[in-house]
Amino acid sequence: MKPPICSSASTGGVTIATIKRSRIKELLAKEQRQFVSEHPKSKALYKRAEPVLLRGVPMNWMALWAGDFPIFAKEGKGDRIIDVDGYEYIDFCLGDTGSMFGHSPKAVVDAVTEQVRKGITMMLPTEDSIWVGEELKRRFKLPQWQIVMTATDANRFSIRLAREATRRTKILCINGCYHGSVDETIATLDDRGRVIPRSGNKGAPVPPHMTTKVVEFNDIPAVEKALRPRDVACFMLEPAMTNHGLILPDKGYLDAVRRLTRKYGTFLLIDETHTLSCGTGGYTKAYGLDPDIITMGKPLASGIPVAAYGISLKVLEGVINSLQFDDDEMGIGGTLSGNALAVAAMKATLQKVYTEENFRKMMPLAERFYDGIDDVIRSRKLPWCVTRLGIRIEYMFMPKRPRNGSQVDAAEDPDLDQLMHLMALNRGVLLTPFHMMALISPDTTKKDVDRHTEIFTESVEAIIR
Ligand SMILES: Cc1ncc(COP(=O)(O)O)c(C=O)c1O
Repeated sequence: MKPPICSSASTGGVTIATIKRSRIKELLAKEQRQFVSEHPKSKALYKRAEPVLLRGVPMNWMALWAGDFPIFAKEGKGDRIIDVDGYEYIDFCLGDTGSMFGHSPKAVVDAVTEQVRKGITMMLPTEDSIWVGEELKRRFKLPQWQIVMTATDANRFSIRLAREATRRTKILCINGCYHGSVDETIATLDDRGRVIPRSGNKGAPVPPHMTTKVVEFNDIPAVEKALRPRDVACFMLEPAMTNHGLILPDKGYLDAVRRLTRKYGTFLLIDETHTLSCGTGGYTKAYGLDPDIITMGKPLASGIPVAAYGISLKVLEGVINSLQFDDDEMGIGGTLSGNALAVAAMKATLQKVYTEENFRKMMPLAERFYDGIDDVIRSRKLPWCVTRLGIRIEYMFMPKRPRNGSQVDAAEDPDLDQLMHLMALNRGVLLTPFHMMALISPDTTKKDVDRHTEIFTESVEAIIR
């Protein structure tokens, strides 16, 4: 029987199908031709954007979709996106979690519309913010909260508080982690185990080994070695890795992390931004974690920029002892953070869409999505594996489930990744760029899930032919 929230499977250990490189290249060229011929309006917009927008997009990530150029969206509603060329897509990317509860849910649109008329940013708190603080405390158990704009901000500000409270400078993170554009975390391990900038780390303020220690996920002895000198302010951790493949923690890993962080006086910071997929209290509630700091963002206000972080009394005490709260230069803040519109959108999301009722609908569909992929992998003996974390599902091009980021690096296959994304897109399904990841929304239907399974099967058949 499957556990309720996580499932993972692989064809490790059995005879596997072979996939020819030449076939991948041939199909990729064909799919690219189809993509270009079917999206003349997106292409024209991209050409127009290139001279004025860096990489032809308002945010550099958007250039990384499969295809010669990004499709330009016209509108999104529920689990559907329509592009400027008139194609409708079943959206399983859902804004890489930002729109995990569907595009423009009615309850949030209504609350936002009302608040827009009553003031957007007043640099004063509104009553909604208290409801939001109380609700976050109820769900995640930490007593003190702040509302910010992005999960990156939540992480950056939390690191500052952890440093201030512990009077330590270093942070510990995981090889292959992603916590937003947080300088300290854009680091990796080289083949001799040294901390170096991750590829793509542009303009780092200082070499990352000065601020950061890095360990592989699921490696407890490495955590102890890193914490032993007692110079680490916080261990920043996704409880399951979601940005470098989907990697579940080994049994006992998170308990051991908690024990060691306490032993060495390091705060445990759990980044729930993506693991909110586990349920209404994220991984923390689903698996009874007890962190010192929790950060989160993306879907909290249904895609309107809002994030939050909560801290324990222990962190608070450390901060109060060393910070003057009447100082305005704390290195923490943002003029628009916690604005009236943001907290109204957050209240509506928490009250009406990020609910137990919606999770009861979404979870069985996530299992169905997982089962569809799992059946194909097993029946065709593909050297691939699939993992589920609540309403998040990801398949990877490796026969055995990974236990850490280096194992994912070793199995990377950019051509196959592009091909699977493009085959899905050309047949009306959007998967999250950069990895083979899907999210289920409250608007997703069985039919949508089965359509993905059909396309996945068709794509696999074409590749292994
Ligand atoms: C786990 C995690 N934390 C933080 C972030 C940063 O979120 P944002 O880009 O909204 O600041 C991300 C983004 O993907 C993330 O995956």
